[in-house]
Amino acid sequence: MTITSATFVRGITGPDPLLLSDTPQIAMIGRSNVGKSSVINTLVQKKGLAVTSSTPGRTREINIYNINNAFFLMDLPGYGFARGSHSEREALQRLIYWYLIQSEYHQKYVVLIIDANVGPTANDIETLRTLEVAGKNILIVANKIDKIRPSDYHKQMQKVTNLMGGHTVLPYSAEKKIGTDELREILFGNVKVAE
Ligand code: GTP
Ligand code: MG
Repeated sequence: MTITSATFVRGITGPDPLLLSDTPQIAMIGRSNVGKSSVINTLVQKKGLAVTSSTPGRTREINIYNINNAFFLMDLPGYGFARGSHSEREALQRLIYWYLIQSEYHQKYVVLIIDANVGPTANDIETLRTLEVAGKNILIVANKIDKIRPSDYHKQMQKVTNLMGGHTVLPYSAEKKIGTDELREILFGNVKVAE
């Protein structure tokens, strides 16, 4: 699918009638600072669409992006951010859990983004289990592969794949734009675009 339009719709912190429409939703989830917003920007080839920041915990709402009037790409806040007040972290965690698990909304894909260089954290693995139990259609994107030393690459990716329990792991670099075509193909495929 060629992306002809990608626009920010709005940020939500609760139910939204838009999400009851037939437009498929694709959710991007991951630890704070793993590059969720950067992955979205490279995926839709639009720099600055999703706000990125070197300060973790930047995204505080669920930001909805409209892709070609055919998909809603959902940029979720990051989990596991150690700083920030306890109540704020709890609120973000509740928001993520509500949208993915408790709400009546359906996601075509839940894309779990991890830091390939750091490897899956306990938090990542716990999130994966929760998504599995909820029966989500899961895709793992291992971002920041550009940070892995070339001599460690094979071993590190093997470790990531092993810890991700049989799910497809797509090596990715938002920085170097590696994996973007593959991700676009997996998520959007060859669908017809509603005009
Ligand atoms: P929150 O919204 O705070 O949860 O963060 P996020 O997951 O949306 O991360 P964001 O896209 O804002 O990126 C965080 C930082 O990681 C920024 O400084 C990015 O430039 C950097 N970054 C993102 N992707 C890559 C990558 O593939 N390689 C490298 N080296 N840096 C990256
Ligand atoms: Mg973000």
